[in-house]
Amino acid sequence: MAQGKAVPVSVSVDPAKTGPVINRDIYGQFAEHLGRGIYEGIWVGENSPIPNTKGYRNDVLEALRKIRVPVIRWPGGCFADEYNWRDGIGPRDKRPVRVNTHWGGVTENNEFGTHEFLDFTELVGAEAYVAGNMGSGSPREMAEWVEYMTSDSQSSLANERRANGREKPWKIKYFGIGNESWGCGGNMRPEYSADLHRRYQTFVKAPRENPVIKVATGANVDDYIFTKVLMERAAHTMDAISLHYYTFTHSWEEKGPATGFNKDGWVSTLKNALRMDELVTKHSAIMDQYDPEKRVGLFVDEWGTWFDQEPGSTPGFLYQQNTLRDAHVAALTLNIFHRHTDRVRMANIAQMINVLQAMILTDKEKMILTPTYHVFDMYVPFQGATPVAARVEAEPFTHGDTTLPRVDVSAARDTSGKLHIALVNLDPDKPARVTTEIAGVKPRAAKGRVLTADRIDAHNTFDKPNTIQPVAFSGRVEGGKLVFDLPAKAVAVVAVD
Ligand code: AHR
Repeated sequence: MAQGKAVPVSVSVDPAKTGPVINRDIYGQFAEHLGRGIYEGIWVGENSPIPNTKGYRNDVLEALRKIRVPVIRWPGGCFADEYNWRDGIGPRDKRPVRVNTHWGGVTENNEFGTHEFLDFTELVGAEAYVAGNMGSGSPREMAEWVEYMTSDSQSSLANERRANGREKPWKIKYFGIGNESWGCGGNMRPEYSADLHRRYQTFVKAPRENPVIKVATGANVDDYIFTKVLMERAAHTMDAISLHYYTFTHSWEEKGPATGFNKDGWVSTLKNALRMDELVTKHSAIMDQYDPEKRVGLFVDEWGTWFDQEPGSTPGFLYQQNTLRDAHVAALTLNIFHRHTDRVRMANIAQMINVLQAMILTDKEKMILTPTYHVFDMYVPFQGATPVAARVEAEPFTHGDTTLPRVDVSAARDTSGKLHIALVNLDPDKPARVTTEIAGVKPRAAKGRVLTADRIDAHNTFDKPNTIQPVAFSGRVEGGKLVFDLPAKAVAVVAVD
């Protein structure tokens, strides 16, 4: 692969300067009843010729376990605020058929409901994040759903769950009080949303020994007023507030293609992805005014790229390819979350399979892992690790009138004490020679993997599933420092010995 001359980059890591632990739940996923995310992606049914365990695709289960998915958010998204949980329990052939008004107007047969979702999380080894309906449902509906899922009593609802095949209550780690109440969840003003949050959450009464973390539906992008009003009026009734931010090539109106883009599309997308840092910083600063102790978490429970859907795919299904550019967006975003662990304690990339910035794409019996999946896989050592200070000095990378950091770095110590370093080279043309000094440490070696490709829009297809995948990568020691020859447009993660 022809690359330009390497640009010198200096990185200093100071393991003595630590931040709050990286909550592994920031590596969470989102699975909505949207397109082929659930049906086909996760659930094929017990009688499918596609190899499955109780109706769940075996290949998908295996892939998700490998990246140690910590938590999955369900059933939406916009779908959540039209969902009646009673539609998705009991014998599958008796469940009502509804219209999915948000996503393609297709029929929803409710085969995948509460039991199917929660059993799925257990099979994956993930925690459950259930989003309740504050938009069109009643507080009673919400209260009864929580009781159905979490109660170990002999109440009628707990016994109904038992009759439907689940003896013990499930653990619901997170419960969302609505979704996007400013938009598809009810078009509310923040004042009204704050009041409704207060009202609905009052009736969410999981048993003391099986509590839920209550998440208020929060702001879209830079709607700081929304966060302010919610915090001012309802902070004492929530454990966390959400933030949604999607990365487009240009804007909502000009999302841009997922493949076949040029360098302008690479640069503007990465610039937009980096905006996450400003958003988290400013929303956190507002939260600090009302919650200086930082009790309330900022959960970025929808983030990721949103491009034009693949030509020829079903309208409203949000099916898009996933390239090396998506891998960069994922790595840069995760690095930002690592720098904000004081507030960002949970996040969900949108979405897990076949929708938006997916980990996995499926086509009937075939499955491919995307570049984004590979980043999540490479970043597993950061789950539960302690971030340490890392500083980069380099000439920035400029394209047209846009200037971006050349290399982005994140470093953290895992629970065994091992130091891991993630390096992202944003320049699509020039490699970087990254000289890394670790204060107080004389490194002997650094080994890991790198994800890169010839093309900025390199992606895997069902015919060529391994076009882009991580390969071995290491640094060398020179004068007590680590030196990495980091290719252009690359994401690398190494463990330091
Ligand atoms: O992830 C797709 C949609 O984006 C979700 O349903 C909604 O919450 C957001 O607007």
